[in-house]
Amino acid sequence: MATAPTTDLGFRPVRIAGTGSYLPEKVMTNEDLATLVDTSDEWITTRTGIKERRIAAEDQFTSHLASEAAKAACEQAGIAPEDLELIIVATITPDTLTPSTACYVQEQLGAEKAVAFDVSAACSGFLYAMEIAQSLIATGGRGNALIVGAEKLSAFVNWTDRNTCVLFGDGAGAAVLTPAEEGQGRILSSTMGTDGRQAELLNIPGGGSACPITLSNAEEKLATLAMQGREVFKHAVNAMRRASEEAIEQAGLKPADINLVIPHQANLRIIDAIIDRLEVSKDDVFINLDKYGNTSAAAVAIALDEANRQGRISPGDHILLVAFGAGLTWASAAIQW
Ligand SMILES: CC(C)(COP(=O)(O)OP(=O)(O)OC[C@H]1O[C@@H](n2cnc3c(N)ncnc32)[C@H](O)[C@@H]1OP(=O)(O)O)[C@@H](O)C(=O)NCCC(=O)NCCS
Repeated sequence: MATAPTTDLGFRPVRIAGTGSYLPEKVMTNEDLATLVDTSDEWITTRTGIKERRIAAEDQFTSHLASEAAKAACEQAGIAPEDLELIIVATITPDTLTPSTACYVQEQLGAEKAVAFDVSAACSGFLYAMEIAQSLIATGGRGNALIVGAEKLSAFVNWTDRNTCVLFGDGAGAAVLTPAEEGQGRILSSTMGTDGRQAELLNIPGGGSACPITLSNAEEKLATLAMQGREVFKHAVNAMRRASEEAIEQAGLKPADINLVIPHQANLRIIDAIIDRLEVSKDDVFINLDKYGNTSAAAVAIALDEANRQGRISPGDHILLVAFGAGLTWASAAIQW
């Protein structure tokens, strides 16, 4: 039997009132990468589906990408940044270790009323932020909320490691969440999960308190992404499939009720494996990883905004968002648009 959706528990329903995204101008193609490491367009395309990714300018930080996406989301929602009460930025590539990137975003937007903080849940971060914001709005604690997934992964990639550098890109996506009125769409269900036993599979080992970067280890590139790709792949498929099923069931829906799946954009083969098991048609899955690669916390948010602005989602449609990332973490949400 399906678990009752959150909105049946007497809390305020919550909707997505607007979305936005921002991608840096500079495009780095697979051919460009082949000049840096021993790889080829053919290898990257067949193993991942990625053709190109965006790279932020040197003086463009994660907060700048986040603020651009946020402005677009606020504009679409018709909500001035001054009227935001909550800002959550999901990122693993913060401008600084402290303060949070959300503080910089609050300042850049002039959103002085908003309490602002970061969430660190890697590629699942945007959906973690969504559930946290939803809960705070649903219980009446906050009104208008901005959630952003933003990454400048190019600053944390080892550009000499072909196992990882071909996968990632920079970008940001955002959504404004507000209380839903009668007859409007709403978030029907959301799930989050964590398995800290698998933390070693995908991490940035250096730069934190466990392994500060010093003169003696500076050459080892410890403050860059390290990954056991094949293991991550297996976990990603299983976790995203389970999270998808849970969100659909908790929303009281069947897979056939889903009009559009917006999965984390890490690898086309991971997405194909999930679709096979979920029995969703490939036409009902939104994919843009060919253009942007894996932008971690930004990926689902950018895809949601592109799907929205391209008219792939109509009022009343059911959409499924699902993500997976370092931690390991996973999360999903079923939404009536
Ligand atoms: C990384 C990934 C694309 C590698 O694909 P794979 O099919 O598993 O490939 P393997 O790791 O088995 O490597 C196969 C060979 O390709 C080589 N290779 C790895 N990267 C390469 C590259 N960019 N170009 C050319 N060859 C490459 C490997 O060295 C290996 O060579 P070997 O057999 O001589 O040792 C895949 O494992 C993956 O996508 N994993 C999940 C990663 C992910 O999504 N992370 C983020 C999660 S949010």
